[in-house]
Amino acid sequence: MYLSQQNFSSVLNTNVIYGVNSVEKSLAGKIKEFKKLSVFIAADPGLVQAGIPTKIQNLLKENGIHSVLFSEIEPNPDAETVMKGAEIYQSESCDMILAVGGGSAMDFSKAVGVMASHPGHILDYRRGQKPVVNEVPLLFAIPTTVGTGSEVTNVAVVTDHKAGRKYVVASPVLAPKMAFVDPILTTSLPRHVVATTGMDALVHAIEAYTSVRSTPITDGLALQVIKMIKDYLPASYAHSDQLEARSQVHLASTIAGMAFGLAGVGLVHSCSHPMSAIYHVPHGLANAILLPYVMQYNLIANERKYAEIARIFDPSLTFETDRAAAEQLINVLKDFNQVLNIPNDFGFLNKQFTEEMVDRLADDAMDDRGTIPNNPRKVFKEDVVQIFNQVLPINQQGGSAE
Ligand SMILES: [Fe+2]
Repeated sequence: MYLSQQNFSSVLNTNVIYGVNSVEKSLAGKIKEFKKLSVFIAADPGLVQAGIPTKIQNLLKENGIHSVLFSEIEPNPDAETVMKGAEIYQSESCDMILAVGGGSAMDFSKAVGVMASHPGHILDYRRGQKPVVNEVPLLFAIPTTVGTGSEVTNVAVVTDHKAGRKYVVASPVLAPKMAFVDPILTTSLPRHVVATTGMDALVHAIEAYTSVRSTPITDGLALQVIKMIKDYLPASYAHSDQLEARSQVHLASTIAGMAFGLAGVGLVHSCSHPMSAIYHVPHGLANAILLPYVMQYNLIANERKYAEIARIFDPSLTFETDRAAAEQLINVLKDFNQVLNIPNDFGFLNKQFTEEMVDRLADDAMDDRGTIPNNPRKVFKEDVVQIFNQVLPINQQGGSAE
């Protein structure tokens, strides 16, 4: 679309404090600036073993700041856990929330913020059924994984595990006030987590870049992320001591959050959400597997932009036409996944998928209203079924004999 025909408004709400050891150097001071005295810390359980929340609690204590630790957050945080967290926030008279961890801890914290300032149940606020309008408690975020970008977005994903569904709760007031992007916290991440969450950041950038809501502002952010991930994710996967590589990937993930926070994500996320909600596939892994297949479907919608991405990965494609370069991108990304030991499909689930199971997945993907409208190609259910048929082991029983 011509810029002379575009109208948009871009707000980035979060103050990003970047740097090695930035948490140690700046966190307590920033909390004091806001005159907060009692912090509800929501931390990933995996971090408790590594001692990270305790270190933060000690840091706050030394500065006269009281804190309460809540670390019962499951992957894809459940609505009931959110309600439990909100109850503790109230009963302990906390006055701010500090999210420490990956997307689950940050999404959980945003949802607790909603329940600390709004009546009813968190699921009442899913998909804007009830608007999030009241002022929420002050929220700081410390991302300890890469990928989610939730530290700079105004979206929380809450899962209703009983119904096997993921819901978005979104509002401009949910963006954390501050995000401490400290690469030192990523040095203990297992390499497979770095690989899949790094791919999630890449998917955020690619889907934001090709989104129908993209603008020159989000394009600039997204292209920078694609370069950083291409150059540094393999090294970050190869060795956790490569602080430079881990730093590049960590910051890239935050920048990707800014890009998709403004431009949205598309069909890769629509398809991956039900794979996580129903079959518990980690978000980044599901996205990484789906990316090449969804892209193959999307290519014709914007060959120029897909070609541009291909040329970042392989500069020799500069000498090819946009179509030829874009088509090469599928294999380029399959190879990139392979370097990171990410499988080609969901065969590892050891499940035979029936037509009904694929149908449910496709319905849920089509129902993902926060993502489907952003996709560069208009999506139809039969196309989504075809994408799932390519990545799932299909039960051939009852199929037509060939
Ligand atoms: Fe994502």
